Order: sequence, then C-alpha cells, then structure tokens
Amino acid sequence: MKLNENYAKMPGSYLFSEIARRVAAFSSEHMGREIISLGIGDVTLPLVPAVTEAMAKAVAEMGVAATFRGYGPEQGYAFLRDAIVEHDFASLGIGITAADIFISDGAKSDCGNIVDLFDADNRVAVCDPVYPVYVDTNAMAGRAGEYDSETGRWSNLIYLSCVKENGFIPTPPKEKADLIYLCFPNNPTGTTATREQLAEWVDYALYHDSILLFDAAYEAFITDPNIPHSIYEIPGSEHCAIEFRSFSKTAGFTGTRCGYTVIPAALERHGQSLRAMWNRRQCTKFNGTAYVVQRGAEAVYTPEGQAQIRANIEIYRNNAALIRQGLEDAGLTVFGGRNAPYIWAETPNGMSSWDTFDLLLREAGVVTTPGAGFGPCGEGYFRLSAFGDPQKVPQAMTRIRIALGR
Ligand code: MLT
Repeated sequence: MKLNENYAKMPGSYLFSEIARRVAAFSSEHMGREIISLGIGDVTLPLVPAVTEAMAKAVAEMGVAATFRGYGPEQGYAFLRDAIVEHDFASLGIGITAADIFISDGAKSDCGNIVDLFDADNRVAVCDPVYPVYVDTNAMAGRAGEYDSETGRWSNLIYLSCVKENGFIPTPPKEKADLIYLCFPNNPTGTTATREQLAEWVDYALYHDSILLFDAAYEAFITDPNIPHSIYEIPGSEHCAIEFRSFSKTAGFTGTRCGYTVIPAALERHGQSLRAMWNRRQCTKFNGTAYVVQRGAEAVYTPEGQAQIRANIEIYRNNAALIRQGLEDAGLTVFGGRNAPYIWAETPNGMSSWDTFDLLLREAGVVTTPGAGFGPCGEGYFRLSAFGDPQKVPQAMTRIRIALGR
C-alpha cells in the first residue's frame, strides 16, 4: 500500500483553514470581542426570495410521489442549462449550447476536478498571487514538482508575476505553458482584464495548442461595459478555453452550492473532445447537483430573481467602495474593488502581510486575508472582501483607520 506522496509535499494547511484557525484561537482568548470578517469571500446576505420560493416549491415536489425525482442527469437539468445559455451567453451573442454546460456543486470543485483530464507531464501556468486551489490541486496530482519553502514556489509550475508594475495583469510567458489558469475579475487582486488582454491569451493558447482554464466566478461584479464577462467573447476561444462559473458570489449560493463549467463542442485535442471527456468523468464520478438547488439556481434568471440578486450585488459593490475609501483614508495604496468584490492593498509601512493580518485582527478585530497566502508576489499586500455584513463594514473601516493611527 502506498499513499499519494504528493500530499506530503504540500506546505502547511489550506489558506482559509489557517486563517480560520488563527481567528478561532484569537476569539477564544478574547471572549466577547466582536470580530468582523472581511477575510474569506463568503457572502453575508441571505438567499433572495425568488430563490427560496423556488426551492421551497421544489422541496414540496420531492415529497409527493407524482413529482418526486431520484437521480438527475449528471450534466444538470435541461431547465437550468437552457436558462444559463439564454441569459449568460446568447444575450452576449455567444454560441454556447446547453450541451456545452455542466452543472456542478460549485466552481471550486470544478477547478479542482478539471485536472483529471490532463496528463501529469503538462506544464501549468498560474498567476502569482493566485487562488490557491489551482496550485494545490495540481500539486496533489503530481504536476507541480517539488515545493521550495524558501521561494514559496513549486519547481514545475510557471508563475506569471502579477505586480503593481504590470497592473496585476499577467502577460503570456516566453516558454510554452500547456494549461493556463486565468481568473477575471481577479481573485485576489480585484483587477479586471480588457478584451485586448484576453485576446493576447487566446492567441497564445491557439498558437501553442494550450488550454485556458478561465475562472469567471466574479463576473457579476462587472459594470463597465468594456470589460468582458466571458472568455467566449473573444473570437477563437471556443477552440482553447474552458470556463468556470458560480452562483456563489452572483446569488449567495456559497452554502447552497451550485456552479457550472462550460466546455465548447469545438474544444478538441489529439482528436478527442474535451467536452466528451468531461462528460465521461462527470457521469462516472458525479451524480448531479440536487434538484432543489438547481430549481433555486433557475430562479436566479427570472425577472424577479435578477432584480433581487442585482440589489444584493449593489450592496456588496457599495461595501467595496466603502472599503476602498476607508483604506485610502488610512493612508494605504489600494487596488481592485471597482468591477470586482476584492480590494487589494499595500501593507502599512512595508510590514509583512501575515504581520498585517495579525495586527488588524488584534488591534481592530477585523479579519483580512494576507497577500502572501496567495503566493510570493502577494507579500506586502493584504486582501479585503466586499462580501462582509453591510451593517458592519463602516465600523470595520473605522477600526482599521484607528488601528493604523489615522
Ligand atoms: C476566497 O475568499 O478567495 C473565496 O471565498 C474562495 C472560494 O470561493 O473558494
């Protein structure tokens, strides 16, 4: 019996577990101290009425023999896939079909599971800083090589540095990357990519036969009409890109779990359809997202659902504006948070990002996310999430300003 030795190479614990551990330790030492979380990007507003009503109706159906449902289609129910095609793609003039859509329990699972389709020898490129799931899942699959604790990097990964100088937008590397993870609006920096910047990546991928793994979990926060919501707005991308979408941040499904992956029919390599491969994988390893949850997700696309989720997103966008302003008033240099729910700030006086995390927890009782947790280029930064409780965000910003001596 041998274990998957790649797990033994993994450094520490998952970023958000480590943060939760530190916050729990602090809370138990300081009972009664109110802690405000602007750390993990977890929503605080409840599901909207259109969604809960649709789910309640679906629960009732499940209790009646005539409308009860057992196993659903592994790819998701047609009612939801059709609604997605119409609202998320046809409305943008994109020719994605229902057969290209795979409903799941969230973008995190899909981003992690997609590595099943690819050989262990592929070279993987990730941004630095990056959502840790992309790195960790490749490390677990043995594709990342060895971890160097000095540099905080894996030997086989290609790191695309996203720094102030390039506006936190990665440019294609000189060498060939087979798989490239891109996330826009970006987690953690809150920056967005223009059509031209994304077109550069599509050209690179088409030239090298690479595949772009495009995480669009935060697209609902885009209000600027010039910023693309989907990689499929870029011509040619149907031959080189897989897109991940989520209802978590769009409609408050972090605890309810629903997302979807798009693999266009045109995406083929070595005579194989990646859509057919993913279908084979999902049919074998996944038994579909709960019917009740899919009915809730479908309701997001009704006129009432759209109006209600837009109102919630507006509240989070207002949080983002307050956080940006609060950090600027505290004398910090701030990025992101305009068409995105994350605000990325330089640490005060060149402090390390974990020291900043500890200082703000201790002195302000506010949970943040240290930039270094997202990769070495995140050192010197920290991230605030706009998904915090809107009643508490102003207070959190006052406390941060006081903690930083303003
Ligand atoms: C984050 O805080 O980066 C997100 O909540 C992570 C996630 O969506 O899994």
